[in-house]
Amino acid sequence: MSAPVKPASDTHAIAEAADILLRGGLVAMPTETVYGLAADAADGEAVARLYAAKGRPSFNPLIVHVSGPDMAARCVEIPPLAAKLMERFWPGPLTLVLPKKADAPVSELAGAGLETLGVRMPAHPAAQALIAAFGRPLVAPSANPSGAVSPTTAQHVAEGLGDRIDLILDAGPCPVGVESTVLAIDGDTAILLRPGGLPRAEIEAVTGPLKSAKADAPLSSPGMLKSHYAPNATLRLSAVAPEPGEAFLAFGPGAEACTANLSRTGDLTEAAANLFALLRQLDAEGHERIAIAPIPMDGLGEAINDRLQRAAAPRD
Ligand code: TXA
Ligand code: MG
Repeated sequence: MSAPVKPASDTHAIAEAADILLRGGLVAMPTETVYGLAADAADGEAVARLYAAKGRPSFNPLIVHVSGPDMAARCVEIPPLAAKLMERFWPGPLTLVLPKKADAPVSELAGAGLETLGVRMPAHPAAQALIAAFGRPLVAPSANPSGAVSPTTAQHVAEGLGDRIDLILDAGPCPVGVESTVLAIDGDTAILLRPGGLPRAEIEAVTGPLKSAKADAPLSSPGMLKSHYAPNATLRLSAVAPEPGEAFLAFGPGAEACTANLSRTGDLTEAAANLFALLRQLDAEGHERIAIAPIPMDGLGEAINDRLQRAAAPRD
C-alpha cells in the first residue's frame, strides 16, 4: 500500500507527521531543494529503517535538518566562519559539515560514525513547520531509492518509495530543484564537497576561493559516489545536436528540434528547477539514449553539470 499524500499547508497533516516521526516512522517532506525523507535523528532504529527504505549504504552520512543556528549548536561546534555563513545563507540550500559534539542528539548511524555532521536549515516553510512541530533535529536524505534521480514532486516520491514510508507531505514542485551545496568548514577554511543550490560565487564572496575536496579522500564526502542520479537511459553530455535515435534535452533559445528544453530563455535557475523532472519525463517516455546540450558553468550550472556527469557515469 502506498503512503498517504497530504497537503503540507494543512496544520493537521504537520501534527500527524510529527507524531509519526516520534513513533519512529518515516515522512517525506518538501524542502526548497528536493523532497527529503525525514526521520528522528536521535532514534537509531528509525534511522536504520530509513537507510533500509532507500537501500542506502550505511557509510553514507545523513544531513541533520535544524530550525536554526541554536539547534545546530546542540549538534556541532560552530567556528566563526560557519557562524558567518549561517548568518548570511540560512535558511537556504547550504549544508555545513562541522565537528560533531559528543552529546549531539543524533544517532551514531545517522553520522555514519564520522567525527563530523552535516547540518542545514531548510528555507521551505513546510520543512520548517515540521521541524518546529517535532522540536528536535530531523535527518533527511533525498526521498528516492539510493542512486536514483532525486524527487522534486510528491508524485516522484510516491513512485520511488511510496510503499516503504508512512506519509508524504505535498507542497508542489521544489523551487530550487537541485540538492543543497555541501561545504566542510575546517577552522577558517571552506571546502566544497558538493556543488548545489547555493552557487559557488555567492559563497566565495564571503569565504574567498573555496578549496575542492581531494579526489584521494573519498570519505570526505561519502555520498559522492561516481554513478548517481541515474535515469534508465544512457546520457551523452555537451551535445550540440542529437544523433539519429537520440532524444534531445536542450538549453536556451533556438533549439526547435528538441524533445524538451531545460530553459527556453537560457536561465540556469529555471534549468535547475526543471532538471530532475525532465530526466524522469524522458525516461518515462522510454528513450534509450538522451543527448543533452552544453550547460554553462556559472551560477547553478556547476550543480547541474555535476548531477549530469554523475547521471552519465558508467554503472556497475
Ligand atoms: O538539499 C539537500 O541537501 C537534500 C534535502 C532533502 O535537504 N538532502 C540531501 O541529502 O541531498 P542526501 O543524503 O541525498 O545527500 C547528503 C550529502 C551526501 O553526499 C553525504 O555524503 C554528504 O551530504 N554528507 C552528509 N554528512 C556528511 C559529513 N559528515 N561529511 C561529509 N559529507 C557529508
Ligand atoms: Mg541523495
